Amino acid sequence: MCGIVGYIGSRNAVPILLEGLKRLEYRGYDSAGISTVTGNKLLIQKRSGKISELERELKQREILGTLGIGHTRWATHGEPNLENAHPHDDCTGKIALIHNGIIENFAILKRELQAKGHQFKTQTDTEALVHLIEEFYKDDGLLEKAVREALLLIKGTYGIAVICSDEPDVLIAARNGSPIVLGIGEKEYFIASDVAAIAAHTRNVTYLDDNEMAILHRDNLSIKTIDDRPVAIRVERIPFDLDKIEKSGYPHFMLKEIMEQPQTIFDSMRGRLLEDEGTAKLGGIQNELESLLYARRVLFSACGTSWHAALIAEYMIEEFVRIPVEVEYASEFRYRDPILDRDTIVFVISQSGETADTLAAVREAKRKRAKVFGICNVVGSTIARETDAGIYLHCGPEIGVASTKAFTSQVTVLSLMTLLLARMTSMSASRGREIVQELKTLPDKIQRILDGNHYIEQIAGEYADSQNFLYLGRGYNFPVALEGALKLKEISYIHAEGYPAAEMKHGPIALIDENMPVVFIATKDSTYEKIISNIEEVRARKGKVIAIATEGDEYIQTKVDHTIYIPATLEFLTPILTIIPLQLLAYYIAAIRGCDVDQPRNLAKSVTVE
Ligand code: AGP
Repeated sequence: MCGIVGYIGSRNAVPILLEGLKRLEYRGYDSAGISTVTGNKLLIQKRSGKISELERELKQREILGTLGIGHTRWATHGEPNLENAHPHDDCTGKIALIHNGIIENFAILKRELQAKGHQFKTQTDTEALVHLIEEFYKDDGLLEKAVREALLLIKGTYGIAVICSDEPDVLIAARNGSPIVLGIGEKEYFIASDVAAIAAHTRNVTYLDDNEMAILHRDNLSIKTIDDRPVAIRVERIPFDLDKIEKSGYPHFMLKEIMEQPQTIFDSMRGRLLEDEGTAKLGGIQNELESLLYARRVLFSACGTSWHAALIAEYMIEEFVRIPVEVEYASEFRYRDPILDRDTIVFVISQSGETADTLAAVREAKRKRAKVFGICNVVGSTIARETDAGIYLHCGPEIGVASTKAFTSQVTVLSLMTLLLARMTSMSASRGREIVQELKTLPDKIQRILDGNHYIEQIAGEYADSQNFLYLGRGYNFPVALEGALKLKEISYIHAEGYPAAEMKHGPIALIDENMPVVFIATKDSTYEKIISNIEEVRARKGKVIAIATEGDEYIQTKVDHTIYIPATLEFLTPILTIIPLQLLAYYIAAIRGCDVDQPRNLAKSVTVE
């Protein structure tokens, strides 16, 4: 999720761009840059690292101009380095472009443009678009027209801004899938990916919809569709509560990220489902599939929430691919001299890609000649760079310390990998197609659960003063019980434990009384009857029971105090749904208790220390 800012008016654009980029830095950054048009020249200044690094450079090399664009990058294609930082310019050095989104057909466009003599400097998908605009600009000589014609060839998502030194009085913006807001000032206009970047300058805004582009001059603004039809401008006024704006109106990043999950699950699957063949395509491990299938051992290593995702992977891969899988805490793995060799595949899972214990596990596994693959969210992170191959989550920057959307994207990506490997071995095409169709329904099913959030908030109110919680699940939902307990304890500071439900009788049942709420994941699956028995054991000891159940299961309501329903899905995909109510339960309890939900005490978003 990159940050985009643009300005056209009579003031110096650079301070406005820098201030706007700083407002967007929370979205995740790894590099930043600005470009302005001054006189008939296009100037560009880029820097890897924080916005403050770019600001320091601009103190050395002052850039002026009353037309400019700025970008803070969260890498999706290409390393987060200076070369790949935006803005990107064309061969003539006259056109500069910034982009938020993913251009899915960039490779073929790049090949065609290179065949026409265009020189590329970066690994990014974005650069293909600026050269495509250049190609059309050569013929049209009008930036608006060239941008329009180029965008008609683009497959994928974009929020872009474009300037050209031959046209110092126009700023072009366009949107398809990535937000663009236009700020309306007094003889000056702004564009941004997020109102936070421009709210300090104007409260009057209008938003681009998909397949629309804006043509901004110093004294007027027009909006058209990509196929050149005029669009009426609807001006809105925004609140000045900047803090709220950065969270898109949510009180906390964690709630925003929980609510984003229909979209982030979709993004994690984007371009990776092969419907006709009933399988998945994962470019990052494409060349390693044989080594995976013929591995003597597959071992997962991770920490915290990512370790829970690894446990789910163990169940999935052993069920559908019939390869033995082990899971280890990275902090244990790295110190216990694991038995590895070149026939062992080690997977590490890490949202941040910087967790010290997990990074150490990577290095130890490589030292022992194992192949190491990484499942990360942050492109170009240390773990992503040091593993032999890997898969990115593409769920966007996760700001809240408690991991939510990264977990569901991890499980989604692991299910795609399981499907891919299973279809290379014993799974039939028809079974594979069934799974692909079910995967496609998950975003809507998650949305249905999120729509019931106020009922979960009510339940949270009843239990916010509890001192302890027990979370119980079986099979695929045993790791979900662990994850639900972790969510609660790390943001509400209530002690919570997750257990396999059947283990309760081996000790934890001694804890059950009327003060011990027990959360059961009791979906209609192969262990449902056993779970009902466990619930009856708890109720017999006056324990309060909150059940996560399958829509349509009326019976369970007679056995528990509260029932939170989720839509039915395939058993191995239930964790992607059953975790949602547990994320919300933890969030609301913590919020009711007045905890610092986004930055809980003693915790860090990425534990880069041992
Ligand atoms: C999860 O909510 C916690 N923030 C923590 O357990 C986290 O999952 C763990 O530190 C691993 O982080 P990583 O995925 O970035 O490696």
